[in-house]
Amino acid sequence: MKAVILSGGSGQRLLPLTSKTTKQLLPIANKPTLFHILDRIKEETEIKSVVVVVSQDFGHQVKETLLNSEYSKYFSMDFVFQDQPLGLAHAVQITKGQVGDDSFLMFLGDILIEKGEVKKAVEKFSKDNFETTVFLNEVEDPRPYGVAEVDGERVLKLIEKPENPKSNLCLSGIYLFKPSIFFAIENIKPSFRGELEITDAVDFQIQKGKKVGYYKINGLWFDVGTPENMLLANQFLLSKIENEIESEVNDSVKIKGLVQIGKNVIIENSEITGPVIIADNTIIKDSKIGPNVSLASNIVIESSNIENSIIRDNSKIKNIEVTISDSIMGENVEINRTLKGKGDYILGDGIKCMSS
Ligand code: DAU
Repeated sequence: MKAVILSGGSGQRLLPLTSKTTKQLLPIANKPTLFHILDRIKEETEIKSVVVVVSQDFGHQVKETLLNSEYSKYFSMDFVFQDQPLGLAHAVQITKGQVGDDSFLMFLGDILIEKGEVKKAVEKFSKDNFETTVFLNEVEDPRPYGVAEVDGERVLKLIEKPENPKSNLCLSGIYLFKPSIFFAIENIKPSFRGELEITDAVDFQIQKGKKVGYYKINGLWFDVGTPENMLLANQFLLSKIENEIESEVNDSVKIKGLVQIGKNVIIENSEITGPVIIADNTIIKDSKIGPNVSLASNIVIESSNIENSIIRDNSKIKNIEVTISDSIMGENVEINRTLKGKGDYILGDGIKCMSS
């Protein structure tokens, strides 16, 4: 079995965070979503070969990040460039040469799933011998998703983003396919949003009498395609961390709860309330950090309070009078004056807001 990860698309719903970084590389608990996906595949399957679909705009960024990561030592990786975001089924279609005659596990590149689910689903897929198995998740409002109607073990119908959903079971962006999916894709037409939908390709299989099954997710699942969901996924991953403090912390610092502090971190006269992760080379002075904060490396924070937020590398945050909360800041952000609003800042890479 191989894995296909779709890491193309445009990331519009995450602008301005995605103006210079593609959404699949945005960090959750200090690690890009793509790395979290590769962890699931590495720990829970026997797959060693991964095909990654990337966009023209950000493909080289994704390729370089993955090839420079520890995952490139474990997986063989192929990168397929998609000229335009013509849909999930189109993205799958262009991997046909790399996938060949193998079955494959497909992940959308902006999905996070709790440990253990992938293993159970792959086992079920091998046993059931169905043409396709889709991962389903129960949600309150399924309208922004593909929606499944099921009966017993079988999926009876799939519709992409229906106005009046007939169930609350949504397609969760993880699929197990046999190579016959390529034939189905050749037989579908673009949808109302002008894209070749994988939902329609699987529905085509159902209409042709092929066996399509499902795996219902029991644990937590996040589509990290919006800032709100990125922060929820960050909270979830931080709730699982263990205490690990690799820098010296003096008596002027109060630490409560679960905290990970990397190397060469200097903290003075501050409170850290876990769960919090602080990566290497960060300086924190006269500030309150946490709960639910991920700080990447080379950050400076002075006289500011931050909770429920993700702050990326090389940022400087000083003298902010409101509590920064529910915020995501890109790389190389510099702010040293209080911005308008309640302190919930979504700032793209390189934003500077300095007092004169
Ligand atoms: O989040 C689950 C939902 O994902 C499913 O319920 C839907 O059935 C499925 O169509 C999908 O809907 P989205 O509208 O959320 O898909 P999105 O456009 O965000 O793309 C998902 C991922 O696939 C993302 O990592 C970008 C990548 N992608 C997307 C397109 C349209 C590509 O690689 N190529 C593409 O052409």
